[in-house]
Amino acid sequence: MTPKNPDWESFKKEPFAPYIPDEVFQYRSDEIEKIIAWKKEHPLSMPMEVEIGSNYGRFLLGLARGRREMNFLGIELKAALVSRFVRRIEREGDTNCKCIHADARLAIPVLFEPGTLDAIYVLFPDPWWKKRHARRRLLDDAFFNMAHVFLKTGGMVVVKTDVRPYYETVCEALALDKRFETIPNDAIPNADKWDLTNREQHCIENGVPYDTLAVRKV
Ligand SMILES: C[S@@+](CC[C@H](N)C(=O)[O-])C[C@H]1O[C@@H](n2cnc3c(N)ncnc32)[C@H](O)[C@@H]1O
Repeated sequence: MTPKNPDWESFKKEPFAPYIPDEVFQYRSDEIEKIIAWKKEHPLSMPMEVEIGSNYGRFLLGLARGRREMNFLGIELKAALVSRFVRRIEREGDTNCKCIHADARLAIPVLFEPGTLDAIYVLFPDPWWKKRHARRRLLDDAFFNMAHVFLKTGGMVVVKTDVRPYYETVCEALALDKRFETIPNDAIPNADKWDLTNREQHCIENGVPYDTLAVRKV
């Protein structure tokens, strides 16, 4: 495969270089360039919480309305959902919420400095049910390494899922990871005020059980 950007090695001088593998620079540099261009047009304010897979913003807009002192960024892979989210932000005249069309595994290192995020929400990530697809799951070791780098000390990762084996795998991995400590569900800050995500609404309406896991960077 020919690298899309023959000059990909220039990325090695960028501050995000240590957090993105070389093969990603070689073959997905066009995506990285789009994120850099987006950042120039949409300067981000801190402090910041991020939702990965923000759909059209139902959960994140609820957070943004309730906590004006915090900033929120939705990162979503599907362009149509991002357009819908952006229209909702514009309609509400929201100033503390933005959304970017990108893969969060690239966007977080490109957009943020290490040790700066207050929270990362991953709510009902794609399940990739089949065993041979399990490696496509977002919540793997590389994800938690990235979360550890970009969260502040005390910053949290919140996961909800209705896929019990996915939940169990993540719990098992985090139980061994001394860089994070579990937050009991009844002690997750502000969780009683959160709006439901689309998938969560579906689960509640159809009696589908789901789990919540929150951890804090030690
Ligand atoms: C099952 S949906 C859940 C959406 C929403 N959080 C909810 O609970 O209704 C998962 C979403 O994550 C998005 N997604 C998956 N991988 C992603 C990634 N690496 N970066 C950003 N978004 C991602 C998908 O496009 C999809 O919209």
